[in-house]
Amino acid sequence: MANKEVVIKVDNLGKSFGDHEVLKKIDFEVREGEVICIIGSSGSGKSTLLRCINKLETQSCGKIYYRGKEISDNQKQINDYRSKVGMVFQSFNLFNNKTVLQNCTLGARKVLHISKEEVYERAIKHLKAVGMAQYINARPAQLSGGQKQRVAIARALCMNPDVLLFDEPTSALDPEMVGEVLNVMKELAESGLTMIIVTHEMAFARDVSTRTIFMDKGLIAQDDAPTNMFNINNSNERTREFLSRFIAEKTGENDSHKKEAVDTTKITNKIKKKFVVTFARGFGTGGKEIASRLAKDLGIHCYENRILTLASQMSGVPEERFIKGNEKLMHKQKGIAALLGGMNRTKSTTYLARKDFVSDDELFESQSKIIEELADSEESCVIVGKCADYVLKDHSDVISIYIEAPRQFCVERTMRNMKCDEATANKTIAETDKFRADYYEYYTNGNYWTNPVNYDMTLNSERMGIEGCVAHIKSLLKLKGYIE
Ligand SMILES: Nc1ncnc2c1ncn2[C@@H]1O[C@H](COP(=O)(O)OP(=O)(O)OP(=O)(O)O)[C@@H](O)[C@H]1O
Ligand SMILES: [Mg+2]
Repeated sequence: MANKEVVIKVDNLGKSFGDHEVLKKIDFEVREGEVICIIGSSGSGKSTLLRCINKLETQSCGKIYYRGKEISDNQKQINDYRSKVGMVFQSFNLFNNKTVLQNCTLGARKVLHISKEEVYERAIKHLKAVGMAQYINARPAQLSGGQKQRVAIARALCMNPDVLLFDEPTSALDPEMVGEVLNVMKELAESGLTMIIVTHEMAFARDVSTRTIFMDKGLIAQDDAPTNMFNINNSNERTREFLSRFIAEKTGENDSHKKEAVDTTKITNKIKKKFVVTFARGFGTGGKEIASRLAKDLGIHCYENRILTLASQMSGVPEERFIKGNEKLMHKQKGIAALLGGMNRTKSTTYLARKDFVSDDELFESQSKIIEELADSEESCVIVGKCADYVLKDHSDVISIYIEAPRQFCVERTMRNMKCDEATANKTIAETDKFRADYYEYYTNGNYWTNPVNYDMTLNSERMGIEGCVAHIKSLLKLKGYIE
């Protein structure tokens, strides 16, 4: 890439709104064919930077160059520049009263001086490329979010851009539509189009970007190859903190009890000193619910399945390997597989006997590092499963909880949660617990999990009830001086 021509250069760019300095001394270059992903927390200035690059916003200081030429505030020059540097927005910005084809041709016909036929030809070509050719006569209201965004991308391509900017192109979409848009963008990247993409899709940034920029409080905190950025050993502390926060935010997405944002008025206890609570639990005991209730009451994050996803990203052990195994298992045994972490399950589509258990030490090591990273951060948190209790056994300020319950209680809960019959519930519990026991036994060299001596508190969720367990854990935290 180093020998390719610089397309965009941002030089010492600053932007303030009143007293608020939103961008501070931003410097970077984008060369032909590069795909730059910009990540960072909300309010860090990503959109403002993109808007400045697109000249939708006037910078307070610094310069922007396009192919070596400074872009001034002259409106004609800005218009020419914008026809070269296109932008795709989060909210599509399509004209609702126009058809898909009209939406694509309108801008190109106005701005580019080419024949009507050529514009139509171009639009159809790009609509085909994004898989929307059969919808040319549809109106935006008849399309799904993912389809609208693909039309918006085709529209931007009709201008024959030299560079395409994207501001969170998938964040307004339902989860099942994100993939179709990311695939189109991946194809564009592979075709060699130069792109700058603000995104919260970390796996996409890791796989597709040639460079990833991490923005923090108006500054570029790290500008690096994605393999360095998304590396568990990334030496940039701020980036690591952001990535672990990201796991927490994402964890909530597929989990109904954690979906609601933390309501600060409902936080029942004030935190006096930082701590980490780990949960080990049997299947159907309600342990996961207790963990997330506790986190919610205290206004702290609850980390769970997402740890595995991130571990797989960081260890380079492809998640697909696990997902594929999961899907096959899911098919046969409904929900069980989703609960199993850290094991290679691709060898068999059904329950693996102890002798077939295959470990993935590298993945486990990454999981352990992530768990340690979370425990070392400044914020208190709850971590469910994945041997967190074992990994953190020598850490200070860790409270380990073990939740168990008599079999019948777990069976009834499982029947309710999975809407299944008693035989299925029984089988699910037996198999899942066996899996977990194998996992713990393998990684902890000796059945750490089922030995209550290893925990600060062991609770029977049938006797105590879910509420009661939360209350008991809170009283232990109070007693130890962690909360008020
Ligand atoms: N037009 C504006 N007037 C005043 N303040 C603004 C304006 N636009 C943005 N800001 C402020 O600038 C800061 C950065 O905003 P920006 O939208 O660039 O963040 P972001 O990184 O894109 O965040 P997100 O991930 O939430 O989209 C925020 O504090 C925001 O309130
Ligand atoms: Mg933004």
